[in-house]
Amino acid sequence: MDKLFVFDTTLRDGEQVPGCQLKSDEKLEIAFALESLGVDIIEAGFPISSPEDFKSVSLISEYIKNTTICGLSRAVEEDIDVAADALKKATNGRIHTGIGTSESHIKFKLNSTREEIVERAKHAVKYARNRVAEVEFYAEDAGRTDNEFLARVVEAAISAGASIVNIPDTTGYCLPEQFGEKISYLVNNVPNIDKAIISTHCHNDLGLATANSIAGILAGARQVECTINGIGERAGNTSLEEVVMIINQHKHITVSHDIDTKKIIPISSTVSEMMNMPVQPNKAIVGTNAFAHSSGIHQDGVIKNRQTYEIIDPEEVGATGSEIILTARSGKAALNFHAKKLGYILDKEALKIAYKNFLVVADKVRCIEQSHLHDIFKNTKVYA
Ligand code: KIV
Ligand code: ZN
Repeated sequence: MDKLFVFDTTLRDGEQVPGCQLKSDEKLEIAFALESLGVDIIEAGFPISSPEDFKSVSLISEYIKNTTICGLSRAVEEDIDVAADALKKATNGRIHTGIGTSESHIKFKLNSTREEIVERAKHAVKYARNRVAEVEFYAEDAGRTDNEFLARVVEAAISAGASIVNIPDTTGYCLPEQFGEKISYLVNNVPNIDKAIISTHCHNDLGLATANSIAGILAGARQVECTINGIGERAGNTSLEEVVMIINQHKHITVSHDIDTKKIIPISSTVSEMMNMPVQPNKAIVGTNAFAHSSGIHQDGVIKNRQTYEIIDPEEVGATGSEIILTARSGKAALNFHAKKLGYILDKEALKIAYKNFLVVADKVRCIEQSHLHDIFKNTKVYA
C-alpha cells in the first residue's frame, strides 16, 4: 500500500485564524501532541512573520525529533533565509516556499507575468535547496490556475529541486471532480512528476475541503495538508480527523497512514482549548454530538445494535462511547435505557406511565437532567 504523508498545518494555517494565536511554548505543547498522534510533517509556522513565530519554529525544531518540521516562506530570499535559520536545529527540516500562479494572483497581487512567475518559482526553490535538504513548492491558488500553466510551473519547481509540490485550492473554489482532474492532469502531463510527491492543501469556503482532498488522493496525491478540527483561514482547511477516518472506513482508498486514531478526540480538545476555538457540536468525528443519538427511532436502533446508526466505533477515535440523549423527541427505549442505568427496573405499565410523565417534563425543559429522571421514576411504580 502507498504511504500517505500527513502534513499538519494547525500551527501555521490554523494559527493564522484571528484569536487562535499561540506563544512558542504553547505551540511546542501542541507539536508534542501532533508528534504522538503520528503526523509526518508539522508546519510549525511562518518564521519571518514575527519574532515569536521564529522562536516557535526554532523551539519545535529543537525538541521534536520524530517528525519533519516545516517552515513557510514566500518566494523571497529574505523569507527563505529566516526560515532556514529557524530550522537550524531540526533533524529533518523542510522549507515550504511558493508563489501565486492563478491569473488574478499574477495580475493583481504580484503585478507580474507568467514567464516571471516561472523564473521566480525556480529561483526560490534553488535558493531554498541550498539552505535545507528538503524543499516543498506551493503554487498558490492552484485551484483557479489553468492546468497547462500549472503543469509548467510544477515541472520547473521539480527541476529546480522541489521534492514535494503542493497544489493548494487556496480559495476553496474547486468541485471534487475538478480537483481530482487537476491532480490527474499533473500526474499525466508533468514529465518529471515521478521525482516529487504531489500534495493537496484544500480550503473549506464551499464546505468541500475534505471531499477535494480525498479526490486528490484518489487521483495520485500522496501528501495531504490538514489541520486539527479543520481550523484555518476563513472557513478553514481540510480536517485531519475527517481524512483519516474516511481512509479507514473506505478500504478501496489504498493508502496507509501512521495516525493513532485513539488520540484524535484528546488532541481536538487540546487544540480547541488552547486556541480558544470551540468545535461546532455537529462537527464530524470530534463534535460533541458526533456519537449522540436523540430521536426515538435512532435510539431504539442504537440500543439494539450500535451499528444501525453509527459507522465509527467512538472508542476508535478516543471518545468514551455512544450517547443516548433524552429530549422530547426520544422514545420509550431510550427512557428505559436510562432507567436501567440509574438502577430502576420498570415493567411495561410503569414504563408507559414514566414515559407520559417524561414527555410533560421534556416538552418544558430543553435538556433532561438526572434529577428530572429521578423525580419521574420515583413517582412511578418501579421494581428493584
Ligand atoms: O492556502 C494556501 O494557498 C496556503 C499556501 C501558503 C500553502 O496556505
Ligand atoms: Zn492555506
